[in-house]
Amino acid sequence: MNKFVYMDAGASWLKPLSVIESEADFLRNSYANAGRGICARAGRVDSLIDEVRGAVANFINADKESVIWTSGTTDAFNRIVNILKNTFDGKNLTVAVSDLDHHSARLPFEMWVKTVVMPLDDNFNIDVNSIPFADVYVITAMSNVMGIAQDVVQIIKTIRAKNSKAITVVDAAQFVAHNKIDVKKFDCDFLCFSGHKIGADTGIGVMYIKNPDDWAVDKFGGGMVNRIIDSDNIILNKAPEKFEAGTLPITQIIGLKTAIEYVSNWNGSHDIINYMYDELSKIEHIKIFTSPDSCMISFYLDNMHVIDFGAMLGAHDICVRVGNMCASWIHKKLNIDGSVRISVGPWNTMDDAKYVIDVIKNLVK
Ligand SMILES: Cc1ncc(COP(=O)(O)O)c(C=O)c1O
Repeated sequence: MNKFVYMDAGASWLKPLSVIESEADFLRNSYANAGRGICARAGRVDSLIDEVRGAVANFINADKESVIWTSGTTDAFNRIVNILKNTFDGKNLTVAVSDLDHHSARLPFEMWVKTVVMPLDDNFNIDVNSIPFADVYVITAMSNVMGIAQDVVQIIKTIRAKNSKAITVVDAAQFVAHNKIDVKKFDCDFLCFSGHKIGADTGIGVMYIKNPDDWAVDKFGGGMVNRIIDSDNIILNKAPEKFEAGTLPITQIIGLKTAIEYVSNWNGSHDIINYMYDELSKIEHIKIFTSPDSCMISFYLDNMHVIDFGAMLGAHDICVRVGNMCASWIHKKLNIDGSVRISVGPWNTMDDAKYVIDVIKNLVK
């Protein structure tokens, strides 16, 4: 039997036992709905959720009311577009995007307004010297293909010097596993990430909003209403509740706190990445285009399609990501139609790395 090796952390993390156990324990012993019940157990659930919100606020250096639950980064980006639409009421905004963007970050804007593109420099980082004027800026803090942390502080500083009223939206979906987020230092207006990419469950994500009560809501339903006087006088709760209509993904929120504790104690697996980078560099036909400092290794082959390569690795029970990674723009920029991405998590060992390299050497002869 093959050894199963999962090197697709960038797509989603395997779940730490502590996360699984915290969710199972909650489901077994403490479950009740949140924000609705009056009994002691329901009150305890509200306190737990408040505790997790506090932990997330701490994790990203935000105020608690700025931390909004979403189902993930994709959901957050779609919601942000609707929040902007509802706040600016039809005003045509110019949105700056970049070729580092994932489809989830850029498409909701592309489908709404005309965009301008922030150029990349020769190393495929956002070029702070040629940022165009726009009303809204989408900043991918780390591309899921290139794996390099962007200088978010400098980028936003430059944007603010150009347009002090600019709205900045940071995609931290990949960044969060490898770098400290500090929304106050970033000085961003919105930031989002998905729990499942740091060991939490699927269906839970975080949308940070600076000054959340300045923004219009995008969803309506239970849990967000303070008082309905009549149809013309509906008073909503303050943030964060006003952005959290409907039943929350309670169990997943509980797991998120455990995942944050877990990821906070992980320093990356640079030894594995360094070893694999060196070994892959020696293999003829493999063309690595990520930097040795990247948190992941991305490459293509000059003698095989990446999908065929991925299928062959799959047949050896090795999971990596192949294709366009939902990041078509960077692949267009690189002039390739797809790539292979190796991304590792805390569960990966040097033995895994050696095994994968041996298999690859045999496949790419
Ligand atoms: C950079 C980046 N942004 C956004 C997303 C979308 O995240 P999700 O699918 O969890 O909504 C991903 C997922 O791969 C990503 O890597």
